[in-house]
Amino acid sequence: MKFLTAYATTEGQTRKIARFCADQLTDAGHSVELLNLSDDDEIDILRFDAVILAGSIHIGHYQKSLENYATANLHHLKQRDTLFLSVSLAAAGQELEDREGLEHCIDGFTKATGWVPNRIEHIAGAIRFTSYDFFRYWAMRWIASQKDDEPVDPHKDKEYTDWDGLAAMLEDWVSCVQQ
Ligand SMILES: Cc1cc2nc3c(=O)[nH]c(=O)nc-3n(C[C@H](O)[C@H](O)[C@H](O)COP(=O)(O)O)c2cc1C
Repeated sequence: MKFLTAYATTEGQTRKIARFCADQLTDAGHSVELLNLSDDDEIDILRFDAVILAGSIHIGHYQKSLENYATANLHHLKQRDTLFLSVSLAAAGQELEDREGLEHCIDGFTKATGWVPNRIEHIAGAIRFTSYDFFRYWAMRWIASQKDDEPVDPHKDKEYTDWDGLAAMLEDWVSCVQQ
């Protein structure tokens, strides 16, 4: 099958996740195109059987480039199998309010774009203290301090992504798409 994996990233974790998916699909014998939505590349979506769109949440919103892409390609997305990977810190949380917050973000996104993905998965992202600018560093220190689990070292990066879980989910989605 031919897959398009298109992503928007602000600090890089969603790119890592999108590459991971693309590598897994390639290893399984599929044809895959990886598209960074902040590039100006024109890739014809009609060439693909199925599409993965991935983006990350910052202050309750996904990247504008992701929203624009979903809106502009709505008609073609509706005609294909689609998977939306929503990357966030809340996805690493266990609290009800984390889940409710994520549902709220998805609601806002589907209302803004009109796109209702066939499958939506919340993927835990990362904290990258060592590469944030002043605003992001303090925003993330505040967000991390609101979490109840073990305290985060503000001088170290921390990755929450469950790679084995992501691989299993992707395998499951592909098996459904192929049927
Ligand atoms: C300034 C800032 C704001 C953020 N806001 C949220 C948020 O509202 N909800 C959330 O769950 N995660 C939030 N995050 C966490 C990011 O979603 C997480 O770090 C993710 O891995 C970023 O993905 P990216 O590196 O692909 O941009 C925020 C991170 C930063 C730096």
